[in-house]
Amino acid sequence: MLDYETFKKVLFKLDPETAHHAAEFSLKVLPYIPFLNEYMKRRNFITDAKLSQQIFGLTFPNPVGLGAGFDKNATMIKAMPALGFGYTEIGTMTPRPQAGNPKPRLFRHVEERSIQNAMGFNNEGAYAVVKNLDKVYPFNIPVGANVGKNKATPTEHTLSDYKTLINKFKDISDYLVINISSPNTPNLRDLQNEEFIAELFTMAKELTKKPILLKIAPDMEAQVAIDLCKTAVENGAAGIIATNTTVDYSLVSNPKEIGGISGAVLADKSYELFKAIAQELFGKTILISVGGIADANEAYRRLKAGASLVQSLSGLIFEGPSMVKNINEGLMELMKKDGYNNIQEVIGSDLEAKN
Ligand SMILES: Cc1cc2nc3c(=O)[nH]c(=O)nc-3n(C[C@H](O)[C@H](O)[C@H](O)COP(=O)(O)O)c2cc1C
Repeated sequence: MLDYETFKKVLFKLDPETAHHAAEFSLKVLPYIPFLNEYMKRRNFITDAKLSQQIFGLTFPNPVGLGAGFDKNATMIKAMPALGFGYTEIGTMTPRPQAGNPKPRLFRHVEERSIQNAMGFNNEGAYAVVKNLDKVYPFNIPVGANVGKNKATPTEHTLSDYKTLINKFKDISDYLVINISSPNTPNLRDLQNEEFIAELFTMAKELTKKPILLKIAPDMEAQVAIDLCKTAVENGAAGIIATNTTVDYSLVSNPKEIGGISGAVLADKSYELFKAIAQELFGKTILISVGGIADANEAYRRLKAGASLVQSLSGLIFEGPSMVKNINEGLMELMKKDGYNNIQEVIGSDLEAKN
């Protein structure tokens, strides 16, 4: 098969959004080419019992999931095992369809193995995405539904957008994620306050027993993030996903003045905030780490800091279809070297060592 480095040379000649459409098209058709789909699945999908976990009553065959934003309309779920992912997160979906921000709105920082995006929740809207989900239900791996408010929804009606979204997706997803951490919807990050979070999760638990997680931004003081996450958990959140993209433009040499940055340059910032949150909340809720993860060492660092699961998005763009397999195989090697028999022993081991 064509190796990814060669393929990438062509892909990276295209503008990033066109390249994404090409990738999306390939992944949409892959399940209809059974021999190739099966070949890739056999090669990439690691199902070793050492990596498998039961979380939220679901089986996660391995801890590496696709971060929200790649499969915004739930059109690629069936192909995810062929890329090795143990679970996937679709969205962000909004109640009504939304075009997103004007183009160009997606940029590569190739040398820095990083991405900058100002997409602005472009998606087909909840109604259409539910139809897409129906077509592939029951799912082959756990599927999270990441939801956010429409840009046009006035702030005072925000709660009603989230209510609509939870009601739409509660019966057709395995877990839900409240996204109030995208930098690309005006004032969205202002919702990262304790009052709104308490109100939101209080409402949410009246609507469903499905696990609902909160996804947070990396651009805040650790103590502020900890307090927000505690408030979410006290009011019924089933977990925390940290982090979304950063607006710290100093991390790349040629930043655009819009959007959020992800990929390698985000790794340390994301890790530090994740670790600070884990020090307070590990054992009390499920923690998912995302931001700059593209290899086994980085994934292992997050697991040891308390992540039950990790996610990656930008890494996939730079590393290609073997990334998840390499992470999972690398994790098993690291576990063997350190004498761990299964992933549960790894998770939080850095924190336990300190206590
Ligand atoms: C092009 C792009 C689109 C994204 N869209 C979303 C989104 O719709 N919702 C969301 O919660 N996060 C979104 N993200 C953030 C990712 O899910 C992830 O939190 C972030 O990119 C850090 O992970 P990474 O370094 O592995 O990419 C997006 C990221 C990128 C690069």
